[in-house]
Amino acid sequence: MIILGIETSCDETSAALLNGPNRVLSSVVSSQVEHLEYGGVVPEIAARAHLRQLRPVVQRALDEAGLSLDQVEAVAATRGPGLIGALLVGFGFGHALAMARGLPFAAVNHIEGHLLSPVLTDPAFEPPFLALIVSGGHTELIESAAWHRYELIGSTRDDAVGEAFDKVGVLLGLGYPGGPVIQKAAAAGRPDAWRFPRARLEPGSLDFSLSGLKTAVRLAVEKRRRDLGLSADRPLPGPEKADLAASFQEAVIDALITRLEQALERHPVERVVVAGGVAANAELRERAGALCDRLGIRLYLPPMAYCGDNAAMIAAVGALRLSRGERWPLSTAPLADLDRFPLDSAS
Ligand code: KG4
Ligand code: ZN
Repeated sequence: MIILGIETSCDETSAALLNGPNRVLSSVVSSQVEHLEYGGVVPEIAARAHLRQLRPVVQRALDEAGLSLDQVEAVAATRGPGLIGALLVGFGFGHALAMARGLPFAAVNHIEGHLLSPVLTDPAFEPPFLALIVSGGHTELIESAAWHRYELIGSTRDDAVGEAFDKVGVLLGLGYPGGPVIQKAAAAGRPDAWRFPRARLEPGSLDFSLSGLKTAVRLAVEKRRRDLGLSADRPLPGPEKADLAASFQEAVIDALITRLEQALERHPVERVVVAGGVAANAELRERAGALCDRLGIRLYLPPMAYCGDNAAMIAAVGALRLSRGERWPLSTAPLADLDRFPLDSAS
């Protein structure tokens, strides 16, 4: 089944064509640069940019797959969670296209896209598994006992991991998005230069808390500026930024790996998925690899192209759910909030 996937939940306009859940024929991701000067995603600007970009992005995906619209047999689009204006653009486009052409349509949960992204490269991937989903909007530990069955076993109480990277990127004057620039700066710094705090939650909790770490980095930046007598318009010297970036990255990754290990003690499984935009982080990939090797667990890390938001993972979930006979009523609408949108249910 040739399925067109569409993803517009945040600031990536993406379209992909798949033949079933495991064969990607094309995957186009257009990252909006309109937000760079604001140091974060501006929802209204995101929605307008999706409106401009989506049609050409879908056409490019068709061209790269060597297909025409007439050959598309099903459509899947992200229903949520995400920015409502941004979601409406891709969801409305996909839903209308499917209706006009009489094609089956799948309304996909973005998080399930990240969770099942391993199917894009490994047809043998299957539950049960434990997943660490780390992105700009999410920091979640999820257990999946069977296909499309999920239990949330831990999540962040404040900032998402990617959000922490993004805020610290701005704090250090490294730019936005923070993940890639912090990773790059950290490579030249000492991870033990600063000892940043790990959040202490009640014993047994698998939740995360990252806002204290962000505050600690802010205080450290202010302290170094004072020590060096820097005026407000002077940036911190490169080596100072590198040390702060490396120490921050060390603290975040350490917190994630510690939680993952605790989760595995209580929920023993044979497969672990680490996915979402932050799964592109080299340090996290390495540490998760070492942990899973030590415990004899198979680790599934999507290739870089499928770590961040992409329509291929949305099409894959759509293909899987449609093949089980799931259908969505005409009244289905996007939902911004995950709490109102349980992962398990189709509609
Ligand atoms: O999954 P994603 O593309 O979008 C959301 O659903 O949020 O994730 C984007 C996030 C951003 O916060 C970005 O800073 C982070 O992923 N990120 C990274 C890296 N590359 C992207 N974080 C840490 N290290 C990286 N190499
Ligand atoms: Zn995402």
